[in-house]
Amino acid sequence: MSVTNGSSLCRLSLIVTFAGVSLIIMFFWLSSSNNCPPPLLIPKQYIPDTIKSSVTEAAKDKPILLMWFWPEDFRFDLNDCKNIFNIDSCLLTVNRSLYSDADAVLIYHKSISWDLTNLPPSPRPPFQKWIWFHLESPTNTQKKPGLENLFNHTLSYRQDADIFSRLHLTVRKKPDEEFVIPKKDKLVCWIVSNNAASTGVGTRNEFYREFSKYIQVHMFGKAYARFLDHTEYYPTLASCKFYLSFENSIHKDYITEKINGPLAAGTVPVVLGPPRKNYENFYPRDAFIHVNDFPDAKSLAEYLLQLDKDEEAYRRFFNWRKYLTPTPHLLQQQEFDLPICTACDYIATHKEYKEIHDLYEWYFN
Ligand SMILES: *[C@@H]1O[C@H](CO)[C@@H](O)[C@H](O)[C@H]1NC(C)=O
Ligand SMILES: *[C@@H]1O[C@H](CO)[C@@H](O)[C@H](O)[C@H]1NC(C)=O
Repeated sequence: MSVTNGSSLCRLSLIVTFAGVSLIIMFFWLSSSNNCPPPLLIPKQYIPDTIKSSVTEAAKDKPILLMWFWPEDFRFDLNDCKNIFNIDSCLLTVNRSLYSDADAVLIYHKSISWDLTNLPPSPRPPFQKWIWFHLESPTNTQKKPGLENLFNHTLSYRQDADIFSRLHLTVRKKPDEEFVIPKKDKLVCWIVSNNAASTGVGTRNEFYREFSKYIQVHMFGKAYARFLDHTEYYPTLASCKFYLSFENSIHKDYITEKINGPLAAGTVPVVLGPPRKNYENFYPRDAFIHVNDFPDAKSLAEYLLQLDKDEEAYRRFFNWRKYLTPTPHLLQQQEFDLPICTACDYIATHKEYKEIHDLYEWYFN
């Protein structure tokens, strides 16, 4: 049947008319409410400094840090430095029109094209510093030619970089007696997001294969079809007694958020990475278990099973909590906030001339 019923047609036209009338009323109502009085005209010299907010005005006393690329295209709020870390010492921008005014340009290594054509243009202002920004280990670093003698500062996880970015444990004077170990319903957990062989994961996979013969490991993450939403990250870590903080590749100082996560969540990290001594530069010796403390994966598994039955011994792994406070790292879009804000703070306090020579010689050797 394709005959339209008369009364429903009539109802439809009523609705259309009503909608049209409402739109007209809304239009007049909105346009009349936009009739604000003209702005007061105050001569510029009478405007207090605090109100002047244009970029160049603000930059008079703060250096401009131009972020040339959004790292991994993670777009965070540029006010995060102020709001989260209380760092307000530079003017952080992504506006490339400010290039010729920028005191420093932050350049994310992974975003640089192999032919270097997406680098900032020449000529480069004589006062301007370029910061090489890279957080991957040498195993996961592409050696793009032409960058060796281009930069003034390095920003990396390495302690000998000019700008060194790491979440530290914070020392406290008044002991924290409040800390309670979160409730546990799993023994060992591991979140693996990238398991591509090219990232250097051979060592950790080999260890895991042997280890998992003797103890059950709860696996999560992209690589294991049990995807964790970022809101589940800390609660999942907290629900495990131990967490496998296995770095993808082994390099000096390459100690990442993989250990910070469990420490912040109230879980004991089992680390695989650089030697124990290197970890102890940043974390107290009894806050974590190092796989090299054991002759093989089997004895590590046996030790964890034994700790599972020994409440008292397990508890001792949290003694450090009394005098040190961990800081949960930011996730997802805000993952790079800390290094970027650290760079902001750095350029405000470092005006010295500097050139980086043989970038790769330093990085790879
Ligand atoms: C970038 O800065 C220029 C110069 O200050 C300004 O005119 C322009 O509106 C800014 N662009 C954006 C997207 O903020
Ligand atoms: C920055 O480094 C480059 C490359 O080595 C050098 O040519 C330039 O003079 C340096 N500039 C500053 C301000 O340090």
